[in-house]
Amino acid sequence: MWDPTQYSHFRDERKRPFFELLMRVDVDAPRHVADLGCGTGDLTRVLAGRWKDARVYGVDSSDAMVEEARRRPPPESLRFEVADLAGWQPPAPLDVLVSNAALHWVPDHGALLKQLAAKLAPDGVLAFQVPANFEAPSHRLIDDVRALPRFAPKLESVRRGHAETLATYEALLSGLGLTVDAWETAYLHVLPGEDAVLQWLMGTTLRPVLSALGPEEGRGFLDTLKPLLRQAYPKHERGTPYLFTRRFVVARRVR
Ligand SMILES: C[S@@+](CC[C@H](N)C(=O)[O-])C[C@H]1O[C@@H](n2cnc3c(N)ncnc32)[C@H](O)[C@@H]1O
Repeated sequence: MWDPTQYSHFRDERKRPFFELLMRVDVDAPRHVADLGCGTGDLTRVLAGRWKDARVYGVDSSDAMVEEARRRPPPESLRFEVADLAGWQPPAPLDVLVSNAALHWVPDHGALLKQLAAKLAPDGVLAFQVPANFEAPSHRLIDDVRALPRFAPKLESVRRGHAETLATYEALLSGLGLTVDAWETAYLHVLPGEDAVLQWLMGTTLRPVLSALGPEEGRGFLDTLKPLLRQAYPKHERGTPYLFTRRFVVARRVR
């Protein structure tokens, strides 16, 4: 379902929130670090570079992403694995658990955060970033096209990503005995290229939709969506402005 090349199209825009998240992770010498939903693993390598003495685990459920992550031999301290992030068991309690732009694909964040917090060592840090753009015109237009009779039957069971509010994340995690630092940032990306917002969405949000539809119907879906996106996000000489909001949480286990 995942396509590493399409995902890497807007690499710089997608990378920035990871570094802004990491800036708030104040851990000196962790022994075990995980990146859950690591994708192509470029950012997992950043973790291995920051904490050279730690064992670092990059975990992703997509064979294609993990294959891409392993293409360049990782340093000895870093291991990539194919696994579901919620069920994955670390070999030892984690001092740092990072997840960048992945948890929104997993349902029931109440249950999920419980599972993730249980993987932490005492004083361990859980740091995640999730897109919070689900009410943006781009996502609303995807919903409209999904609802058309020619697509709806095949897409009924295809999940839409979701994120909880910052207040809900704070309440859930403090209830689990963690202290919480949570914030939201809106990025105004000015995307280069033709049909840039469609290209952006094809790297992430549209993956499950296109995978459920198959090549021919998938093309029909994109042909229907394209003019709607062009109208909602006009292209200028400088590029296509696309406002994108993300939520960040850094939580430390205190008991
Ligand atoms: C948008 S990409 C982010 C990749 C990487 N964290 C980054 O920031 O470049 C989302 C990744 O989450 C992975 N993913 C989604 N659901 C998952 C799950 N339940 N378990 C493990 N990985 C999952 C996908 O396979 C995909 O590689």
